[in-house]
Formats: sequence, C-alpha cells, structure tokens
Amino acid sequence: MKILVTGISSLPGYKTVLEGIKRGHEVIGVYHERVPSLKVRVLGLDLTKRIQTHDAVMKERPDAIIHIAGMGNVDGCEQERGKCYALNYLTTLNLTKIASALGIYMIYLSTDYVFDGQKGNYGEDETPNPINYYGLTKLLGESVVKSLSNYAIVRTSTIYGIGMGRPNFAMFLLEKLGKGEEVRAVSDQFTSPTNATLLARALIEVAEKRLVGTFHVAGERLSRYEFAVRLSRKLGFDEKLIKESYAKEMKWKAKRPLDSSLNFSHTKEFIDTDFYSTENSLETLKKEYEASTKR
Ligand SMILES: NC(=O)c1ccc[n+]([C@@H]2O[C@H](COP(=O)([O-])OP(=O)(O)OC[C@H]3O[C@@H](n4cnc5c(N)ncnc54)[C@H](OP(=O)(O)O)[C@@H]3O)[C@@H](O)[C@H]2O)c1
Repeated sequence: MKILVTGISSLPGYKTVLEGIKRGHEVIGVYHERVPSLKVRVLGLDLTKRIQTHDAVMKERPDAIIHIAGMGNVDGCEQERGKCYALNYLTTLNLTKIASALGIYMIYLSTDYVFDGQKGNYGEDETPNPINYYGLTKLLGESVVKSLSNYAIVRTSTIYGIGMGRPNFAMFLLEKLGKGEEVRAVSDQFTSPTNATLLARALIEVAEKRLVGTFHVAGERLSRYEFAVRLSRKLGFDEKLIKESYAKEMKWKAKRPLDSSLNFSHTKEFIDTDFYSTENSLETLKKEYEASTKR
C-alpha cells in the first residue's frame, strides 16, 4: 500500500514511518521544518497551504493518508491560538478536502483531551467536551474528518517512547532515574499513557484493514506517578527516587482534564497489536532503551 504520513518529525509520526516500512508498505513522509533521517521519500510541505498540499497529494495519489502533524503542545496552544488552530484544524480541513476529492482513505490522530476529564474511562461514542484550546482544535479536526465516508479517527493519550520529537515523560524518567536523580510526578491526574511504537503498529493495522469510525488506541489508566513507579520497576531503577506531587502545584498554562483515560475495549476487538497492556508497553520501551544505550 502507498501511505502518506504527515508529522514525521514527531514521535508518533516517526514511529509510524518505521512500522509502515517494516510491514512492507511504500511510505511517503511529509515534513515541514525538520527532516528526520529515515529511509523513505520525503516531501517538504506546509499543510496549512491548501493549493500546495493539494498539488503534492494529487501527484502522489496515496492509498491512505495518516495525518499526524499538528500542534501537540497543550500550553503552547493556549498561548498561540492562531497557530494551534491552523496546525490542528486547517491542516486537517485541507487534507480532508483532498481525500474527499480523490477518494483517499484517511486516518486522523486525535486525543483524549477532547474530553473534559470529569468521568474518565471514556468510550469512543461518548460526548466530547474539551476544556482547553488544544482539545477544541483537535475536536474541530475530528468533526471535519467525519464528513468523509472512508476515515478513521484514532484517539490516543500521553505518547511516550524513544526516537524523535518533543521531550516525553518516559524519556525524562529514563534520563533522571538512570542518573539516580529524584523525580516528582503528579498522582491525582489520570491519562492512558501510550507506547509510540505500539501506537504506530496499530495505526498501520488500521490503514491495512481500512477500519472506519472512531477508535481508542491507548494504554491503561495511570497517573504519572503510577506510570513512573511501573517504569522504574520494569527497568530496575530505584523506586524511592519517585516523589508524589499534585495537579494544583503545576504551573500549567492550559487547564488539564483530571481523568481523560480512554476505554479501549471496543477498539481492541479490531486490532491485533497489544497496544494497551502496561506490561507489554514497558517491555517494548525497555528493549528500545537497552538497544539505544548499547550503541
Ligand atoms: N504528545 C502526545 O502525548 C499526544 C497525545 C495525543 C495525540 N497527539 C497528537 O499527535 C500529533 C503529534 O503531536 P506531538 O505532540 O507528538 O508532536 P509535535 O511536536 O506537536 O509535532 C508537530 C508535527 O507537526 C509538523 N508540522 C508543524 N507545522 C506543520 C505544517 N505547517 N505543515 C506540515 N507539518 C507541520 C511538525 O513538522 P516539522 O518538525 O517538520 O515542523 C511535526 O512533525 C498531534 O496531532 C497531536 O495532537 C499527541
């Protein structure tokens, strides 16, 4: 299959390219400013520009688009609303119009932050109610993708792993705990931490099966504190270095849902990859960490 992946310098984008190649697909990567070193053909595109994007996609005519590019920095979105709207909504609107005109199957990577976090354990069909600008722009993206007949919205949460992209919580823990330094982690806010490699594998599977609808590809419900403890046990670090902190102490610019964990029981019926169990997710991270420290 010919798959066009956007956002290849982000952790999920980078891993999706790697998994796509591994499974024998022809992958074309879209970058904007940073070109990661990957063994695929890449296209430099500003996805907020409709004509430029249209012409490039028209020329390639992929079988599927996996749209990962966006603005994932939640506090940044609150401060730079115009940029956040353009990257999360306009890029999605542009690609949706092109996918519709050319009959291309499209996957859109979305987020647990479309929910308000009052309840947690959200199912795919529950009503979103974002409480920050990031969540609102991602929900706008979802609404436009739903106008297609051949689409999948894949919601995920707190992506972690080793590779490209912005710093993530697991990388922070590996660095600090690996050096024997203390870390503080919030114990009263819950998400569904998701391993990027397993997310990427599931995204490729969704494309191969051309699944239609909304799916939750996310890990089990954990606070950052619980996640830090589980990671520490798995990798053999000193658990006593992890100290509890609380959401009210954090100097976040954007409001955070208190419990945006995602229920994956429906999605798991359609996907063979075990993207959800914390044990498998941390085992995958451990192998990648050991391989990276041996180099
Ligand atoms: N991080 C998480 O925990 C999380 C959770 C749920 C969902 N997500 C979703 O995952 C995706 C990636 O987020 P992230 O936080 O991992 O990464 P990020 O750092 O926000 O990644 C942004 C990506 O978008 C690309 N991009 C920016 N402006 C562009 C433009 N004008 N045209 C084309 N590409 C452009 C960047 O490419 P260049 O580097 O080349 O500029 C980069 O690859 C987002 O859709 C986000 O909503 C993330």
